[in-house]
Amino acid sequence: MSWQSEEYAGAGSASGTDILGAARRISSTAATRIAKPFNEIAERLHRLRVIYYNPEVYSLYTYKSTGAEPEEYNKWYFNKLVWHETTWMGIECYKSVSDMWNYQEVLHDQQPSLVVEFGTFCGGSALFFASVMREIGKPFKVLSVDIDHSRLRPEARRDPDVIFMESSSTASEVADRIRALKKEYPGKIFAILDSDHSKDHVLAEMKALRPILSSGDYLVVEDSVLNGHPVAPGWGPGPYEAIEAYESEFPNDYIHDEEREAKFGFTWAPRGYLVRA
Ligand SMILES: C[S@@+](CC[C@H](N)C(=O)[O-])C[C@H]1O[C@@H](n2cnc3c(N)ncnc32)[C@H](O)[C@@H]1O
Repeated sequence: MSWQSEEYAGAGSASGTDILGAARRISSTAATRIAKPFNEIAERLHRLRVIYYNPEVYSLYTYKSTGAEPEEYNKWYFNKLVWHETTWMGIECYKSVSDMWNYQEVLHDQQPSLVVEFGTFCGGSALFFASVMREIGKPFKVLSVDIDHSRLRPEARRDPDVIFMESSSTASEVADRIRALKKEYPGKIFAILDSDHSKDHVLAEMKALRPILSSGDYLVVEDSVLNGHPVAPGWGPGPYEAIEAYESEFPNDYIHDEEREAKFGFTWAPRGYLVRA
């Protein structure tokens, strides 16, 4: 078998690569055998380059986006109750998993010392935040507040890094507790609102946090997806409308982390990824 007749023919379209240049200078049968896999790799790389850098060929090989997929997926995810069956370490966690991944990335970037969650439910989300924070490895505390802890799972309650507080999130003792923890765990705060999803309540939560949060702190207003943004159109004014109302009253408090919000195509906190200015 000669290099020129067989090996070279198979790799002709990949000419110009260093691998082929080197291979062509080798003429023994043994060297040809060694060169063959390299030729195949070069050929494949060449084909990929043709596909990805040539718009006409690219369109033949790739799916044509309509632009509607993220919203359709969002609606499908909501209507199918995927979130209802989502767990963290076996405990219910009513979130979209792409938002959870975003939170993990925010926590890693921001390295807060205090996580404040309004809306505990079973404790899955509080446990998720504590798990991520433990991996980060700096001293921290999670404060999770709920008006009703009857559904809080014992496995979550045992977590040594989470304080579960049974109270309405807007009660003054909650603000006092956050202030005390802020002194004990100085640094940034990551706060997430996931309790009563009515406009008035979320607005009251945002206002309660206003004198507590400082520049660089992170606030996620969850479930702004409700009331037709784009799911549950009949919900009524909810978190999305609370963000709008808050921003019309305090337009300079927060910067929208739009890149983060858009990262996974859809989120359940549209307009709700906020960094304190
Ligand atoms: C959507 S669930 C929280 C889900 C949880 N964060 C998770 O990701 O799995 C909402 C929770 O908010 C609580 N809640 C309702 N009104 C509240 C209030 N005024 N203050 C604090 N919690 C409240 C409910 O008891 C319920 O457990």
